[in-house]
Amino acid sequence: MNAPAPSETLRELLQGQGPLLFLTGAGVSAESGLATFRGPGGHWEGRNPMELATPEAFASDPLTVWRFYAWRREQAAAAAPNPAHLAIASFQRAREDAALVTQNVDGLHERAGSRRVVRLHGSLWRLRCMRDGEETDDTRADLGPLPPRCACGALLRPGVVWFGEPLPEDALAEATSAARAARVVVVAGTSSLVYPAAGLPRIASDAGAFVVEVNPEPTPLSDLADERIEGPAGVVLPRLVEAAGIPTGRTA
Ligand code: OAD
Repeated sequence: MNAPAPSETLRELLQGQGPLLFLTGAGVSAESGLATFRGPGGHWEGRNPMELATPEAFASDPLTVWRFYAWRREQAAAAAPNPAHLAIASFQRAREDAALVTQNVDGLHERAGSRRVVRLHGSLWRLRCMRDGEETDDTRADLGPLPPRCACGALLRPGVVWFGEPLPEDALAEATSAARAARVVVVAGTSSLVYPAAGLPRIASDAGAFVVEVNPEPTPLSDLADERIEGPAGVVLPRLVEAAGIPTGRTA
């Protein structure tokens, strides 16, 4: 798919000094074959998020919730990072001051080589004990009988943020300070509907940042954005890092 080239203003900003922020959503993993949430073919089409992604749903039917998350773990494990993930990782390798804040829980940014990832919505690859709240890394392909249990006997839950739950305080604080500090914010692959993540570009814009939206579709952010690049993240993001004079993951 084709996409417009970045403007001259954006090219100059990307070549200049100063902190940058990438804010990503499910759309950046779409080209890895993972479903987004909203829209045709999205997770929430024909499924009720209130029955799959809330603490109440887990309390009343942990097996149904776990089937959804175990399936998503399988899908994510079978997927590979795409040029969008690789482009951001290249940016972060080249520029110490390039921050990445994601709503994604699939781990593809980390697998692409991004070392500094602020995860606002947790991770599919973390499990939390329902008794003491302790979280552990768990990348097993097969979790065994569902729902999985902790060594202490209590239920384990996915280490993700559900509707109605607060975001991890440290991640939100880090994301907010990255938004305040950023000179350029690239918002890619998110419908900009879910807060507080959706509020970060406004914080950045109010603090003087140039906001770029990368999305094939318009969103509620589009009016605020200083520049909209309509196209898939896997095409547009490599072009942005090339515009900055940085080799992308494809050539690095
Ligand atoms: P959404 O599914 O709401 O939005 C995905 C966005 O990606 C849409 O705006 C699409 O137009 C866009 N998109 C699709 N393909 C793309 C591509 N190849 N390149 C760029 N953009 C593309 O996903 P999120 O905004 O991430 O939370 O959703 C936010 C949160 O809502 C998720 O973290 C999840 C969900 O419910 C929880 O589960 C709590």
